[in-house]
Amino acid sequence: MLEVVDATLHYGAAQALRGVSLTAGAGRITCVLGRNGVGKTSLMRSIVGHHRLTSGRVAFEGKALDRSAAYDRARSGIAFVPQGREIFPLLSVRENLETGFAPLKRADRIIPGEVFELFPVLEQMLARRGGDLSGGQQQQLAIGRALVMRPKLLILDEPTEGIQPSIIKDIGRAIRYLRDKAGIAVLLVEQYLDFCRELADEIYIMDRGVVVHRGPARDLDSPEVRKMLTV
Ligand SMILES: Nc1ncnc2c1ncn2[C@@H]1O[C@H](COP(=O)(O)OP(=O)(O)OP(=O)(O)O)[C@@H](O)[C@H]1O
Ligand SMILES: [Mg+2]
Repeated sequence: MLEVVDATLHYGAAQALRGVSLTAGAGRITCVLGRNGVGKTSLMRSIVGHHRLTSGRVAFEGKALDRSAAYDRARSGIAFVPQGREIFPLLSVRENLETGFAPLKRADRIIPGEVFELFPVLEQMLARRGGDLSGGQQQQLAIGRALVMRPKLLILDEPTEGIQPSIIKDIGRAIRYLRDKAGIAVLLVEQYLDFCRELADEIYIMDRGVVVHRGPARDLDSPEVRKMLTV
């Protein structure tokens, strides 16, 4: 469903991606792992259209995206939950969710019940300001906002970062539901290995702008693979 081929990306003279290829399929969880600063976020931001690749290709459902703006990629069904959540602290929970309406036609601008089934706390806090939520609740809000646009591909950049274990469990359950019941393609960036080990169908490991390993999630049990991930 998503295909990235030989992606390279520069920030000025610095090269962040050096020929990355990756695929993510419907009804599968594809996990990207790697130490700090190896280019995981750069890759995700290139897929959603926040960065323009220097060379290489991104295709979604067989259609080249390289020339489409972030807005058009969202309209084609790609949703992004950014690292650090980036919710609007002064807007209410409801208004934060409604920002997910942007790529939708007027008739589709309804918050799906699924969002509140997966994260009941959001329904209880609809009138609360985003900034008054706990970190874990904000992460649930960021995922809820992405689901509002009923994506076919959901990209999450380190959703467990700084989140307490009980909420990590809820997030894991939600991601699994989206794969199994909704058949969504999930592309998940993580540094929390056990979370990936439990959820992923396939893992990619990045190091300094390249993919150094691709395989099933059980590869995370191998000492060689573990070594690629420790400092
Ligand atoms: N906007 C930017 N301008 C210049 N350099 C950047 C920018 N964003 C990232 N970089 C650099 O590109 C490299 C890859 O960064 P990136 O954020 O993609 O890594 P990451 O794997 O997501 O790291 P982390 O695990 O810490 O989130 C790093 O050396 C980083 O300093
Ligand atoms: Mg990152």
